[in-house]
Amino acid sequence: MQTARLELRPLKIEDARAVFDAYATDPVVTKYLAWRPATTLAETQAALAARIAAAAAGKSSSWTIRKLDEPLPVGMIELRIERDVGNVGFVLARSHWGAGIVPEALAAVLEFARSDLSLRRIWGVCDIDNRASARVFEKCGFRDAGLRPAAVIHPNLADTPRDVRYFEIDLTPGED
Ligand SMILES: CC(C)(COP(=O)(O)OP(=O)(O)OC[C@H]1O[C@@H](n2cnc3c(N)ncnc32)[C@H](O)[C@@H]1OP(=O)(O)O)[C@@H](O)C(=O)NCCC(=O)NCCS
Repeated sequence: MQTARLELRPLKIEDARAVFDAYATDPVVTKYLAWRPATTLAETQAALAARIAAAAAGKSSSWTIRKLDEPLPVGMIELRIERDVGNVGFVLARSHWGAGIVPEALAAVLEFARSDLSLRRIWGVCDIDNRASARVFEKCGFRDAGLRPAAVIHPNLADTPRDVRYFEIDLTPGED
């Protein structure tokens, strides 16, 4: 998929080096995520392999996000699929934050989910303190469906489940 500034293409195991170098080891990037910062390239390779296997099994789609004017990926966006509902997650290298890159990528994924996958609804959650992620959902037209208390473990913040904010968007039926 291509947008004005980005290419989104299915994740490959060869992306592990770029993912490791760009953001997987960064404790600021991973602060609110469900995984700890990687310490070895092998960890990143294993994480990518799991996502690629899930995609092959039809359970999800994962794309690397590359800026058209740069050679290497700068982020990733993932759509986990259960029947006609999707759950989205995303991550971006810190050096690229604040330029609207993930909202642009998410808009393309929403359109793909609507027109190619015929999904009915997409949801996502973010840690109660993850304002940047909440803004991405808001910018892409998701509605704030409230708080889910003690719902998700974010291991870089606590060993016990934390409150998350739940966002969702209904997709109108595709025309093709
Ligand atoms: C959340 C994230 C994907 C946002 O992507 P992005 O492409 O930077 O999104 P935007 O450019 O639209 O910025 C969204 C918000 O991030 C915040 N932000 C922007 N630049 C920032 C910076 N340099 N440092 C910290 N936060 C910043 C702002 O609140 C911004 O909202 P605003 O545009 O209303 O000011 C990115 O911050 C990220 O990868 N964070 C770590 C991983 C993560 O939390 N993923 C989501 C898990 S649910």
